[in-house]
Amino acid sequence: MRQSLVVGNWKMNGTRASTAALAQSIITGLGANSAGCAVCVPYIFLASVGEIIKGSGLALGAQNVANQPSGAYTGEISASMLNEFGCQYVLVGHSERRSYYGDTNASVAERFCQAQTQNITPILCIGETLEQREQDQTFAVVNEQLDAVINLAGIDALNSAVLAYEPVWAIGTGKTASDEQAQEVHQHIRQYIAAKNQTIADKIQILYGGSAKPDNAKGLFAMPDIDGGLIGGASLDADSFLKIYHSI
Ligand code: PGA
Repeated sequence: MRQSLVVGNWKMNGTRASTAALAQSIITGLGANSAGCAVCVPYIFLASVGEIIKGSGLALGAQNVANQPSGAYTGEISASMLNEFGCQYVLVGHSERRSYYGDTNASVAERFCQAQTQNITPILCIGETLEQREQDQTFAVVNEQLDAVINLAGIDALNSAVLAYEPVWAIGTGKTASDEQAQEVHQHIRQYIAAKNQTIADKIQILYGGSAKPDNAKGLFAMPDIDGGLIGGASLDADSFLKIYHSI
């Protein structure tokens, strides 16, 4: 039985005060639910939010990590820095990084490996654009995104990783994949991994992301291969995020 996981991605939002208040409200509302819960916080607030959530059921995550361990990489943040600040998770390959900041399958695979060198669990984001879906390339696209990581890190690396299927056309658009559309791709991803290693396929958490909201989360989470969610917009409001979390 896989443990469920709900992760908030705050993206480039909030102030020191508002992120502190949001973290506090989430902790207060977590209750006795046994599902995992994490928030991926802007770098600059990792320290302050990390202090607030220390010892709580809420885990700390970052939204990106450098593809190099240290050195002359102006503006980058290394995995060891994230580790020092208590990050347990980091997003790698979010579609906004891929489309606006030039992340490639190759650099995403390097970031994934960097995170694991510091025992930080990478949440590998994969998913197709609308154009790719319309051309029936969805499975080919996610296979390629997965292969880039598996070829560099090895299949066993997926033992300590989380996957997030995020169709690009559903992110921040209000257009969620239907339960069946999401399940179809999640099932494909699990089968693709199973062909390489059945044990890992059975165990790995595959989250859905893309306009997940309190009113559609329950249906998505009820799908057999959907183990939780990566929540953007709705994670900025504690009530909405907690409703999603508790619908798992
Ligand atoms: P959204 O974002 O929930 O606002 O669509 C999801 C994500 O980008 O991770």
